[in-house]
Amino acid sequence: MNFEELVRKRRSVRRFEDRPVSSEMVDTLLEVAHWAPSAGNRQPWHFYVVEDASLREQLVDVAKGQAFVAEAPVTIVVCADPERSAERYEERGRTLYCFQDTAAAIQNILLAVEHLGLGACWIGAFDEDKCTKVLSLPSHLRPIAMIPVGYPAQQPRVRPRRPLEEMVTRM
Ligand SMILES: Cc1cc2nc3c(=O)[nH]c(=O)nc-3n(C[C@H](O)[C@H](O)[C@H](O)COP(=O)(O)O)c2cc1C
Repeated sequence: MNFEELVRKRRSVRRFEDRPVSSEMVDTLLEVAHWAPSAGNRQPWHFYVVEDASLREQLVDVAKGQAFVAEAPVTIVVCADPERSAERYEERGRTLYCFQDTAAAIQNILLAVEHLGLGACWIGAFDEDKCTKVLSLPSHLRPIAMIPVGYPAQQPRVRPRRPLEEMVTRM
């Protein structure tokens, strides 16, 4: 599969097999995440790898009842460290760069998930305060995304994209 095919084949997966993901695969996901670009190479992120069954159950409530989160054997919670970016870039770092940087790391994870034959979903609809509490996050970190990862138990339908002409201006 070439790169464009990989990008096009990636889908949000919301059903998972009851089958563990190897620690080597999880390590690969973390490895590619931390090779993402970041403003000033500040790398203002932290990755929580949640495999504990009780914590995964609690993440369902964090994610406003999205039950499939607990189906996945591992969930990576990607956090931003706004002050790490702000140290160099002040307000722009605090309110923009750190989130762009974490988004780049998240996308690297999602593409690697596809490459490894796994499935995942970028979850943004969750209660940040509950997440902080359940994972005992330090106060300088802000949880940005939860990414449940596992072997897909579904072939999600393709979600259509708006035509390129609508979103591209060539000058
Ligand atoms: C910032 C962001 C937040 C998202 N939050 C959720 C979520 O909370 N729950 C969910 O099931 N999918 C969530 N998604 C996945 C999108 O619904 C999905 O990417 C979109 O419908 C396109 O489908 P595809 O990923 O299969 O191409 C989120 C995606 C992004 C980028």
